[in-house]
Amino acid sequence: MVNKTEAIFILKTFIAYSIINNIMEFEVLKKTPLFNTFSEQGKRIFLPQGIFHWSGRAKKEAEISGTLGSAFGYEKDFIEGGSSEWLPLYLEDIKNYSKLSVKEIVPYSKVSGLEELKNLWKQWIIKKSLYSKENDQIKLENLENFTTTPIVTSGLTNGIFLCCSLLLNPGEFIISPNKRWGNYDNIVEKLLGAKIKSFEFFVEEKFNVQGLKDAIYEISKVQEKITLILGFPNNPTGYVPSEKELKELVNMLRESQKDLGKPIIVIVDDAYEPYIFSNKVINRSIFYALHEIEEDVIPIKLDGITKELLLYGGRIGFITVGLKSNWVKKEEDLKALNTELTNKLSGLVRTTISNSNHFYQALVINLFKDVGMEGLIQKRNNVINLLKERYVKINHELSKINNANISVDPNAGGFFVFVNLDPNKISASQFADHLLRKYKVGVIPIEKPSDGINGIRIAYCSIDSTKISEFVNRINLALADF
Ligand SMILES: Cc1ncc(COP(=O)(O)O)c(C=O)c1O
Repeated sequence: MVNKTEAIFILKTFIAYSIINNIMEFEVLKKTPLFNTFSEQGKRIFLPQGIFHWSGRAKKEAEISGTLGSAFGYEKDFIEGGSSEWLPLYLEDIKNYSKLSVKEIVPYSKVSGLEELKNLWKQWIIKKSLYSKENDQIKLENLENFTTTPIVTSGLTNGIFLCCSLLLNPGEFIISPNKRWGNYDNIVEKLLGAKIKSFEFFVEEKFNVQGLKDAIYEISKVQEKITLILGFPNNPTGYVPSEKELKELVNMLRESQKDLGKPIIVIVDDAYEPYIFSNKVINRSIFYALHEIEEDVIPIKLDGITKELLLYGGRIGFITVGLKSNWVKKEEDLKALNTELTNKLSGLVRTTISNSNHFYQALVINLFKDVGMEGLIQKRNNVINLLKERYVKINHELSKINNANISVDPNAGGFFVFVNLDPNKISASQFADHLLRKYKVGVIPIEKPSDGINGIRIAYCSIDSTKISEFVNRINLALADF
C-alpha cells in the first residue's frame, strides 16, 4: 500500500513525465461521443507541450531565458534613435504601413490564436445568437458554458480543412447538399481522399429534409458516425431556411440520431452569416438551434472575418465546437474538455500553418475595442443595405424572364443567386461562353451531371444595382439564342 505522500509524489512525477514527454491523455474527451467520430489522424494528433511548457516556466522562473525562438533585442541596438524597450527585431520601414505597434505586428501569435481575440470572438458568437438576457437566460448560459473557446485558423478554408482532417479517414463520407462551395470537393476528395455523399438540395423550392435523411441512413450502414457540412446563406444558391424548414431539419436530425444511436457532427460553414436579406427566413446561424438540442447532434461552427468583417485577405477564421451538457458531470471536466479539444485542434494548426496572422488578429482586437461590436454591426449595415438592394433587384429582374428552360433557386442572402438551365436544351458552360463572347457578361457555370447540376452562379455582390437590369437583360437575350 502506498501512503498519501507517496501517492501525491507518484502523481506529480507522472504529470511531470507526461509534460516532459509531451503526453496528453485526453481523458475527458475520450469519454464523450465526439472522440469516436475522429479520424485516425484526429485521434493521433495533439499539440506537444514541450516548448510551451519550458518557455512558459522560463517566463516566470528564469533570470535569463533562451527559450524563445524569435529574435528580440533593445530597440536602440537595431533602430537608429530607438527606445530601450525589449522588442522583436524588426525592419524600421514596416512602421510606415500601420498604426499598430511593433508588438502587434511582428511576433508569432499563439498557436490557437491570441487569447484576447479568442475571448472577444466568443462574445461575438454569443451576440450573434440574438438570445436576450431577459428571455433566454438558460440558453445564454448553455451557449457560454458549453462551447469551446474559438481557435483561430487561417480563414474558413483552413477551418474546413482542419475539421475534415480531424473527422474524416480516407474513404469515409461527409454529407453535403449537391450545390455547394466547390472547394469542399477539393479539400475532402482530392486532398484528404475522403468522399462527399451528395443529396439533392431542394424539393419544390424547399430544403430537401427527406433527401438528407436518406443520405444519413445510407451512410450509417457503413460508418459509426455521420458527418455533414451545411451553411446558410449557401454558396452558390444564396438559400437560407425558413423557421419551419429549420425546425423540420433539426427534428429530423435529432430523431435520426436517436434512432441510429450514432453521433451526427454538423460542420456549420457560416462564411456568409450576417448577410440575410429577407425576413421570411431565419436570422442567425443554424449552429444555435443545433447546439440547443440534447441529442448528440454536434455542431462545429466555422466563421471568420473574411466576409463578416469584410476582410477577405486577413485570413482569420475560427473553429468553435458545440458541446453537450450531458457529456460532463463536473465543472473541472468541462474545463478539461475545452483544454483537450483546443489541444487537438492546436495540434492540427501547429502541423499545418503553425499559427495564424498576428497583424490581422491585432487589427480585429482593435476594431472590437475601438468601434465596439454594436458599432461594427451599425457600420456594416451600410454594406448589408447595399447588397440587399442588389438582391431585391436581381431577383425582381430574373423573375421577369419568361423562359421554361430556366429556374432560379430559392435565395434569401449571401452573395449569389443560382440559375438552373435545362440540361437537355443548354449546357451551362456553353451558355456562359456564349454570354461572355456575344454579350460581354461574365458568370460562373457549374455543370455536374452526376449531381444533376447545370446552371450559372451570379455573384450579384459585385454588380452595381444600376447595372443589374442590363445584366439580366443580356442573359435573357442569350437564352433566346439557344
Ligand atoms: C461557403 C464558403 N465557405 C468558405 C469560404 C472560404 O472563406 P475564407 O476566405 O475565409 O477561407 C467561402 C469563400 O468563398 C465560401 O463561399
